[in-house]
Amino acid sequence: MKVLVVGSGGREHAVAWKLAQSPRVKALYAAPGNGGMAGIARCVDISALDVAAMVAFAQKEKIELCAVTSDDPQAAGMVDAMRGAGIAAFGCTKAAARIESSKIFAKELMRKYNIPTARHMSFTDVKSALEYIDAQTPPIVVKADGLAVGKGVIIANTAQEAKAAVRDMMEGGLFSGAGKSVVIEEYMTGREVTVMAFTDGKTLKLMPPCRDHKRIGDGDTGPNTGGMGVISPVPDYTPEINERAAREIFLPTLNAMRAEGCPFTGVLYFELMLTKDGPKVIEYNARFGDPEAQVALTLLESDLLEIMLSVTQGTLEDAEIRFRESAAALVVLASRGYPGTPEKGKLITGLESVSPGTNIFHAGTRRENGGYYTNGGRVLGLCAVGDTLGGALDAVYGDISRVGFEGMQYRRDIGERER
Ligand code: AMP
Ligand code: GLY
Repeated sequence: MKVLVVGSGGREHAVAWKLAQSPRVKALYAAPGNGGMAGIARCVDISALDVAAMVAFAQKEKIELCAVTSDDPQAAGMVDAMRGAGIAAFGCTKAAARIESSKIFAKELMRKYNIPTARHMSFTDVKSALEYIDAQTPPIVVKADGLAVGKGVIIANTAQEAKAAVRDMMEGGLFSGAGKSVVIEEYMTGREVTVMAFTDGKTLKLMPPCRDHKRIGDGDTGPNTGGMGVISPVPDYTPEINERAAREIFLPTLNAMRAEGCPFTGVLYFELMLTKDGPKVIEYNARFGDPEAQVALTLLESDLLEIMLSVTQGTLEDAEIRFRESAAALVVLASRGYPGTPEKGKLITGLESVSPGTNIFHAGTRRENGGYYTNGGRVLGLCAVGDTLGGALDAVYGDISRVGFEGMQYRRDIGERER
């Protein structure tokens, strides 16, 4: 089969890497791709957001499956357009992508279908938002409604800070269009866990639970990022909690999307807070996490192509999905400046000395004259597997000590609390 992967992140590298192992994949394309993907797929210079150009390319090349695994292309209607052109597309429609692209849509869905989440109110005018804040007890969580690359959330410790956040978002253009409407919600306490699932809209098949580390600095300090490291499994996410989450959150969400006339297909991502009152939804994503995908796909034993096809055909119930029963750890190597403005163009050294058992996923890299150069904030993700989490962590940190580029930063405490 001819397969096209849309995007250029570490997640898309992992998707392409796993698809390339399928015996049925005869030609693999990535648009636009990155330095690492160039080694396994033909990279095509089309922006992941250019729906018309992507569909035209897919038609010209007679692509048989298009994998859409990031939020913006889905929200721009890439899956709808591919399917409209008769091309099987893995991912969700624009209408279903609202579960991520509109926090108001997601919160209203949870309210309507009694899915546990933080208490909330949505606002489109500043005055009522400010009045509501006065009636709340801090900390208060203020969220921009739209997509804001994981940065649209402000946790305010005082009412004054919360009001400033509302004004910045609604009047000051912070997060631009994403902040025209806001959600104000209750602050939940507990540990966070990510559960991702393949779904064809009817059946849900869970991937191993994992935990992302969102802050840039050790000890969960500094600003939020897209994710700096991931471990799996998560010892404090017990089978009992999982069973409760499946009953109260996972299946009700899937059914709610069907009932709303926008059945969800692709990967549904549940970000949960394990509160003392049980698991509650922090947010949904309409796709694989990045870098959570790198860990899940490293652990996946089954053929990703077959899974993706079963999702597009509505036959996921019969698909075989097996994961290694091992632990895995992934650490992101980022450029100086990230998550603000990252430096670029630095030569990456030592990749050849990484152990063969460790996967190297490229995010922001460029290939030139046989070498790799940094080309973004998150540059690489190294992912190792072990019998225990400690073993996986030791392996990944051992490999990182051999890799370098000027200004490289990474967290040294990934999985420290779970070891
Ligand atoms: P989100 O973009 O919704 O994933 O939020 C980013 C981060 O903000 C989450 O990973 C949580 O750590 C935190 N967060 C978001 N909503 C809440 C909430 N209601 N209570 C506590 N923390 C939250
Ligand atoms: N790593 C978090 C996300 O992909 O949203």
